[in-house]
Amino acid sequence: MDNLQVVDHPLIKHKLSIMRNKETGPKEFRELLNEITLLLTYEAARNLPTMEIEVETPIALTKGEIVEDKKVTIVPILRAGLGMLDGVLSLVPNASVGFLGVYRDPETLNAIEYYVKFPPLTEDHQIFILDPMLATGHSMNHAIKQVKKQGGQNITIMSLIAAPEGVNVVISENPDVIIYTAALDSKLNSKAYIVPGLGDAGDRLYRTK
Ligand code: URA
Repeated sequence: MDNLQVVDHPLIKHKLSIMRNKETGPKEFRELLNEITLLLTYEAARNLPTMEIEVETPIALTKGEIVEDKKVTIVPILRAGLGMLDGVLSLVPNASVGFLGVYRDPETLNAIEYYVKFPPLTEDHQIFILDPMLATGHSMNHAIKQVKKQGGQNITIMSLIAAPEGVNVVISENPDVIIYTAALDSKLNSKAYIVPGLGDAGDRLYRTK
């Protein structure tokens, strides 16, 4: 599936295996999520537009290319998406950031929005939506809808672990988006947790359980 890119790399597998371990504490969990995000960003940012510049080296005048990072917007889905924000920002430091707070109703599993704060978006912006766990796909579809409503069009999703159910829900409603993930797991359980997954990413990042 061209819309789904599972970034296959020994360093990612190594770091993700440590994150999955239930004994891994929040400090290491946060550091590893940041490191994997750096590696995912390297791939997900492959098609960022560049512009030509002139550079004077100590030897000669030459042409170089720089990323047009002012046209990049990062949208972490609160709160677990915050764990990926610094990783992307450290490689694309002039990107703007839009925040979207969504939680899932424990009964219906529907996405409930509680916060939106976006910078102005235009159709030539490259938008990266971040959520470490792509589970049911409801929060992600909600985020994509919001981004499109605000004028964004070029959307890339970055997640740490995706479930096949979530990938299908997102791609069937949004065949124009690309999902970059570190792993595609087996399935969702009856409580919509990813199996084998790593548990609740927000709780593990911020020790809320
Ligand atoms: N959100 C999480 O944090 N973990 C899951 O397994 C599914 C959704």
